[in-house]
Amino acid sequence: MVQRRTQVAIVGAGPAGLLLGALLARHDVDAVIVEQRSAEYVLGRIRAGVLEQTTVDLLREAGVADRCLKEGLTHDGIELSFDGALHRIDFRALTGKHVTVYGQTEVTHDLMQLRAGANLITDYEAEDVQIEGFDGEHPMVRYVKNGVVQELACDFVAGCDGYHGICRASIPRDAVSIYEKVYPFGWLGVLADVPPVRHELIYANHERGFALCSQRSKTRSRYYVQCSLDDQVDQWSDEAFWDELRRRLPAEIAQAVTTGPSIEKSIAPLRSFVAEPMRFGRLFLAGDAAHIVPPTGAKGLNLAATDVGYLAQGLAEHYLGRSRAGLDQYSARCLSRVWKAERFSWWFTSLMHRFPDAGAFGSRLQQAELSYLVGSRSASSALAENYVGLPI
Ligand code: FAD
Ligand code: PHB
Repeated sequence: MVQRRTQVAIVGAGPAGLLLGALLARHDVDAVIVEQRSAEYVLGRIRAGVLEQTTVDLLREAGVADRCLKEGLTHDGIELSFDGALHRIDFRALTGKHVTVYGQTEVTHDLMQLRAGANLITDYEAEDVQIEGFDGEHPMVRYVKNGVVQELACDFVAGCDGYHGICRASIPRDAVSIYEKVYPFGWLGVLADVPPVRHELIYANHERGFALCSQRSKTRSRYYVQCSLDDQVDQWSDEAFWDELRRRLPAEIAQAVTTGPSIEKSIAPLRSFVAEPMRFGRLFLAGDAAHIVPPTGAKGLNLAATDVGYLAQGLAEHYLGRSRAGLDQYSARCLSRVWKAERFSWWFTSLMHRFPDAGAFGSRLQQAELSYLVGSRSASSALAENYVGLPI
């Protein structure tokens, strides 16, 4: 058995865990990350693509924003497609702000490099991870690495282990309230080394279902189509995917789509989920471990970043002996922002997708709401404000 001690044990090396580790290092707070997968596996998961300015600011604070600032694409708006036409929502004109298109994979890669360069410890491929003692004074993370039991004693545990992790599941059931909505469809996503069809993202409402044209760079595109929860990735050939995507776009856009072999293809279910509170004793939940939003609003990674921004601040103040207020207010501060993002993501998802039981009336209502949205400055501003970043 190997026994070690750290100030903060972080469970999970996704963006929440890695960014928390980087921010704590800046404040000279010692932290060890325990991750059940390999670094290659974590990097292979293709997920988010849109960063709010607050997320870029946190990356800067963590000392890891150089590549994002250089290679990230500044987007001043998005386009909504319905009734066969495109309508632009101009973020810059409506809010004075923009978003940065920079893949989660790149954020994760940059944070991993920072850890490696600073000799900060991340234990990958940890098996049978368990947390204990967080309701008292002496928390512990126990796991098995290369067949050897590891005991990591700590002051605090940060549960950054995603929706399926063990941290939230370790809290007594009667101490946490769960709010959840599962949507009756998923997103089939394809990554391909082809130039994006437009220079901004297109969110398409179509009678065959939602479609999204996103991107990672000038030469790499990320596309999604709404699919059935019964669909299997193997059933979707590249050709079938490109055909379906093009059917859901206005004719002139469909013609302009450059197709090519997929380099990744996956299906993600859509869910809204919140666990309250986000703190139990010396365990703090952050990111997808505490809340999930459907990806339509591009909020998941951004929420994870603000959670760990608050947590790092609270822990730094605690270790400086200044105040416990940041830790005491952590859950309430996060949840106020989380519920704003839940509302926006649910609303935008409801507006853009085909719901199996909505019928023709539901479709006509969506079209009426979309027409209102693009025709009203205040409605467009509300969409733009929520998309570019929720108020802190
Ligand atoms: P995760 O990324 O899930 O990381 C959790 C980590 O914990 C994983 O590495 C996991 O292996 C590890 N782990 C799990 N269990 C254990 C255990 N028992 N022990 C140790 N480690 C464990 N968000 C946006 O902001 N913008 C977008 O444009 C966007 N697009 C998206 C598109 C799709 C298709 C999807 C699916 C999501 C999208 N998101 C987006 C959401 C975003 O990807 C997530 O919110 C984000 O990954 C959350 O980060 P996290 O670190 O909290 O969790
Ligand atoms: C992505 O590029 O993966 C992406 C972009 C915007 C979203 C969701 C996903 O709303």
